[in-house]
Amino acid sequence: MRHTRIKDLLNSTSILHEVNAKGWVRTFRNNQFIALNDGSTINNIQCVVDFENTPEETLKRITTGAAVSVTGTLVESKGAGQKYEIQVAKLEILGDSDPEKFPMQPKRHSLEFLRENAHLRVRTNAFGAIMRVRSVLSFAVHSYFQQKGFVYLNTPIITGADAEGAGEMFQVTSLPLDNLPKTEEGQIDYKKDFFGKHTNLTVSGQLEGETFAMALGQIYTFGPTFRAENSNTSRHLAEFWMIEPEVAFNNLNDNMDLAEDFIQYVIKYTMEKCSDDLKFLEGRLLEEEKTKPQAERSEMTLLEKLNFVLENNFKRVSYTEAIDILRDSTPNKRKKFQYIINEWGADLQSEHERYLVEKHFKCPVILFDYPANIKAFYMRLNEDGKTVRAMDILFPGIGEIVGGSQREERFDVLVEKMRTLGIDEEELWWYLDTRRFGSAVHSGFGLGFERLVLFVTGMTNIRDVIPFPRTPQNAEF
Ligand code: 4AD
Ligand code: MG
Repeated sequence: MRHTRIKDLLNSTSILHEVNAKGWVRTFRNNQFIALNDGSTINNIQCVVDFENTPEETLKRITTGAAVSVTGTLVESKGAGQKYEIQVAKLEILGDSDPEKFPMQPKRHSLEFLRENAHLRVRTNAFGAIMRVRSVLSFAVHSYFQQKGFVYLNTPIITGADAEGAGEMFQVTSLPLDNLPKTEEGQIDYKKDFFGKHTNLTVSGQLEGETFAMALGQIYTFGPTFRAENSNTSRHLAEFWMIEPEVAFNNLNDNMDLAEDFIQYVIKYTMEKCSDDLKFLEGRLLEEEKTKPQAERSEMTLLEKLNFVLENNFKRVSYTEAIDILRDSTPNKRKKFQYIINEWGADLQSEHERYLVEKHFKCPVILFDYPANIKAFYMRLNEDGKTVRAMDILFPGIGEIVGGSQREERFDVLVEKMRTLGIDEEELWWYLDTRRFGSAVHSGFGLGFERLVLFVTGMTNIRDVIPFPRTPQNAEF
């Protein structure tokens, strides 16, 4: 007999005479009531064991974490909190779990402890919910772009280009590190490396994406990206997933409209599909908030925050306006910021971004027209000669969630910029070809997928929204 998913059993419209469920025991109470979960839903199904007719030996093996198969009748439950339960006629232990050693005890564990058990934490309610929400969110990403006729593009993971020019890359090589081949000048001879050149893991698929947008019109990527920045924060991963749409003929305003519409769509979609999981995560967040001092607690619940983003336009503010606001802000005057904002041109830190979003505007903010020298080489220079058509979207509790821009489509201006920054034109000959042959205005952005999952799940550490986080000094599992 084929087993039925617990989600389907709980959603049944009638009692059923013979059903089979398979899953993992969450708890076993009074030698009689199993709370069984199979990952299809946050909800467990209660399985009532006929303990008088079940051998003592078998009852002992029904422990938290064990895999079991139950066959019986789906009946209306007399207990509170569930419509149906299974009256078990036959119980089979599929896989024992040593109750003394199983780390996921039915009690509250710290997030730190769970991170050390990333392979088992998904057996908890919170991580099951987070992973289902993550899955639905990624489907929503595809759904949005596919509906709009974007082409899904897989850009290379191994690349010779440093798209962001930040130099925070993991090198890819098959050279023997203890015996590197040298050129006559004593440099490492990359001609002998696997690709015959120096290569890295990609930090962004944008440059390759642009070349395809210049033929397919609108593309998006959704894949892993890698950054060797040594920032041990709750917002940074060394391996994270990025979504990068790129659209021919879009200017910066079109780009902002697209980003806003896209984010609202995926949140709405996920709220519709994951209501049980989000309700659970909302409760989890409320519990967590209670441990904080009053002043640091959020004024909104998780679902209120998500609805707020759906119902309100993102506030669009130029970098120059933002600097004025920050310069006059109380934390700046009282020297409460770690980095004091004195003048135009300063790079914004996450403390400033969060002040703007959480204290000043109290809504998502799109900052645009940043100083050219704090942004990447490919952004379009404004008429003022000192700002570029960049945009960052800032979210409450997260800071930067999106970074994007209108691209510099003028060959001469782009080459000039690359020369000033010392970017090798020969390395990027293929990128420059887009500006040589049929160049046009175009724009795109990158959304950090884990930062979006953080926002939607109400989690606060990015290590808790990806199955197996990669961070400095940590690549376990
Ligand atoms: O702002 P970034 O660096 O922009 C780019 O890479 C552009 N090429 C995007 C484009 O225009 N096509 O990164 C984009 C987003 C950030 O806003 C942030 O959400 C996320 O990627 N991000 C990270 N997420 C997790 N860990 C990290 N280390 C991240 N670095 C960036
Ligand atoms: Mg950025």
